[in-house]
Amino acid sequence: MSQPLVGNWNYPTSIRFGAGRIRELPDACKVVGLKRPLLVTDPGLARLPMIADAMLGLRKAGLEVALFSDVKPNPVAGNVDSGVKVLRAGKHDGVIAWGGGSGIDTAKAIAFMAGQTRPLWDFEDIGDWWTRANPAGILPSIAVPTTAGTGSETGRASVITNVETHTKKVIFHPRMMPSIVIADPELTVGLPAKLTAGTGMDAFIHCLEAYCAPAYHPYAEGIAVEGMRLVKENLLRAVKDGRDIEARGHMLAASQMGSTAFQKGLGAIHSLSHPVGATLDTHHGLTNAVAMPYVLKFNRPAIDEKIQRLARWLGLRNPTFDGFMDWSLELRRQIGIPHTLAELGVKESHLDTFAEMAAVDPTAGGNPVNVGVPEMRRLYEAALTGRL
Ligand SMILES: NC(=O)c1ccc[n+]([C@@H]2O[C@H](COP(=O)([O-])OP(=O)(O)OC[C@H]3O[C@@H](n4cnc5c(N)ncnc54)[C@H](O)[C@@H]3O)[C@@H](O)[C@H]2O)c1
Ligand SMILES: [Fe+2]
Repeated sequence: MSQPLVGNWNYPTSIRFGAGRIRELPDACKVVGLKRPLLVTDPGLARLPMIADAMLGLRKAGLEVALFSDVKPNPVAGNVDSGVKVLRAGKHDGVIAWGGGSGIDTAKAIAFMAGQTRPLWDFEDIGDWWTRANPAGILPSIAVPTTAGTGSETGRASVITNVETHTKKVIFHPRMMPSIVIADPELTVGLPAKLTAGTGMDAFIHCLEAYCAPAYHPYAEGIAVEGMRLVKENLLRAVKDGRDIEARGHMLAASQMGSTAFQKGLGAIHSLSHPVGATLDTHHGLTNAVAMPYVLKFNRPAIDEKIQRLARWLGLRNPTFDGFMDWSLELRRQIGIPHTLAELGVKESHLDTFAEMAAVDPTAGGNPVNVGVPEMRRLYEAALTGRL
């Protein structure tokens, strides 16, 4: 290992990064001023020793912590509503957001909704809807990621599914950003290989779509290209050996870099993925990874030169658009990502509805080539059958 994987980062949020740093959780609560935190996570994680250990450590430090774990993968508004009830009834003063994207998103939304009077959907990430919120009603949160993918811990949004419309809605407020992140790669070692692959590709695709989005944001582009290099060097290692703490550490950093970069925009990979995830409950990162090459090929006229620049940064043997496509398809194959949406349960009969939904997904606006319903339909057809 050439460089110790430790640091105190304040960009964009305060991040305590490094193996074993979860021991600093009671101190982080003290710094944020939490005395009665509600620890929010999903039921799978709630059963693991890491949660019991954390609860014990917090209680020993004199904190009155309670646990809430009614959180499903691809969380729904009902999860947020029940959490808000528990939060208010227990007079909690903040939230510890623990998990993958599902746990952290739900926790952030609970802390945000603590003192709001309007319904959750009024705060969807549209125009200035976030200004409808009462900032005094937002409680602070501390985030603890256990997957390296969504980067929700360094983001200002929560993705919550509306079960009535089968849509993934982005709830946004600048103050939804956690006050402190404890990024401890040891917490990610138990993540099974399949989820390591899917979440790792989500991190990669956040960087890729942010890099390709047309807005002017050189900071985000710089972060995105280095995030992709970290994924290139470490994702296969982490999938092959979950205990490789160096690879896990770099993947955790890359995931936070992805969510930092995507304030520049996302694109059609996410637009295609959201209707599939909201309807069939497929894993978000995995669904993105399946959709990726079809969108890349479609976007080629707008991104060819940019991808060549990226391919040089990544050190690809063939630093061209085709070289990048070949490398990304090979990575996808090596980590066990299926090639077609059919393998995730998508059927021809879904495509008309999915194309309508994808075209109005807010991420579609960041795609470097305009994508309306007919283009989305063609992209789905290609991804359904694996036609590249
Ligand atoms: N807020 C954002 O900016 C943002 C960005 C992208 C995606 N998302 C959302 O995040 C969600 C997906 O999050 P995710 O990919 O992190 O998966 P997840 O949170 O749904 O977790 C998947 C599964 O992995 C398990 N798990 C998590 N960490 C583990 C560990 N260390 N050891 C063992 N098991 C573990 C969980 O219990 C769960 O069963 C989706 O709802 C997606 O839409 C949010
Ligand atoms: Fe994503």
